[in-house]
Amino acid sequence: MTSDLTTVTIVSSNPSTQRSGLPLSTEIISYFHKKADRYDEVDQQVYWRLSDELLWDTLTTTCLDRLPPDFTFLDAGGGTGRWTQRVLDAYPRSRGVLVDLSPDMLAVAETKRTGDRADRLDLVQGDLGDLPAQVRDRRFDVIWNFHNVIGFVPDPGAVIASLADLLTDTGTLVTLAPNRYHAVYFNLAIGRLEAAREAATTGVSTFTDDMPPLRLFSPDEITELYAAAGCRVDLLTGFPSAVYPSRQETQLDGSSPAVVDLLGDPAIFADVLAIEKQLALEPDLAARGNNIFVAGRRNPA
Ligand SMILES: C[S@@+](CC[C@H](N)C(=O)[O-])C[C@H]1O[C@@H](n2cnc3c(N)ncnc32)[C@H](O)[C@@H]1O
Repeated sequence: MTSDLTTVTIVSSNPSTQRSGLPLSTEIISYFHKKADRYDEVDQQVYWRLSDELLWDTLTTTCLDRLPPDFTFLDAGGGTGRWTQRVLDAYPRSRGVLVDLSPDMLAVAETKRTGDRADRLDLVQGDLGDLPAQVRDRRFDVIWNFHNVIGFVPDPGAVIASLADLLTDTGTLVTLAPNRYHAVYFNLAIGRLEAAREAATTGVSTFTDDMPPLRLFSPDEITELYAAAGCRVDLLTGFPSAVYPSRQETQLDGSSPAVVDLLGDPAIFADVLAIEKQLALEPDLAARGNNIFVAGRRNPA
C-alpha cells in the first residue's frame, strides 16, 4: 500500500496572527527544537503515566472503540507521535495523519514509522492555523489535539473550527486543553505568583520560566469554542483531578517526592487510577483536572 500523502517541508505559518502575548510560530519551533530529542522521556515520570492512562482510557472507551476498525484519524499538533504510535498499534487497521509545526518533533515521529506503520501514517509539517492542502483535502473519523496544542495556537477558535470542518459526518473532535484554574493553583504552589495572576486575569500564562506563553481554558470556554464551530459536546471531563503535579513534572525528567511517595507503589498507583477513572465520569471534574478533555461532533446540517 502506498501513502497518498507525503511529508512536506515548508512551514506555512502566519506571524500576523500573533495576539495577546501568544508566541510566534518561530518561538514554538525554537522551544520544541530544544525539547524534541528527550520529549518521550515523559513516559518515565509516574505522574504523566497516570495522566496518560486516563487519557488513553477515556479516548478508547468513549471514542475509538466505537469506530469502525479501519477508521481514519488526524493527530493535530501530534509532536513526536506518542499518541499516533499507540493508536496505530492498538487499532491495526486504522490509518491517519500527524501534522505538526516543529520539524524536530516530526523527526522523532519519523523514527517510529516502522513496519506497517509507515504505510498507515503520514507526517505533515504545517501550521494548524493555516492547514496544508494535504490535510485540508482529507476527512477524518476522529481528530485529536492533545497537551497544550490548542493553547499554543494564536486563534484557538479558528483552529477548532477548521479541524471540525475536516470531520466526516459522524466524526469526533477530541481536545485535551490546559485548565486555567489548575494553572493558577499550580503556579501559586510553586511560588510563581505573577504567572498565577496572569492565568487568573488574562488566561495566558506559563508553567515554567523557559516555555512560551500559552492560552489556558475553562470548561465553559472550550464548550463555547465547540459551539462556535458548530459542534455539540458529547463528553466534557478533566484529569488528573485528585493528584496534582509539582515543579519536577514540568521538566523532561524527575518527579516530585510527594508524587513518587504516592504513586511509586504499583498497588497504590492502581488504586489512584481507579479513583481517578471513577471521578472522570463526573462532568464537574472538568474544572478540577490538570487538563480538560472534551469530545464532540458536528451538529447535523
Ligand atoms: C506539548 S506538545 C504535545 C505533542 C503531542 N500532542 C503529545 O500529546 O504528545 C505541543 C505540540 O504542538 C505543536 N504545535 C504548537 N503550535 C502549533 C501549530 N500552530 N501548528 C501545528 N503544531 C503546533 C508543537 O510543535 C508541539 O509538537
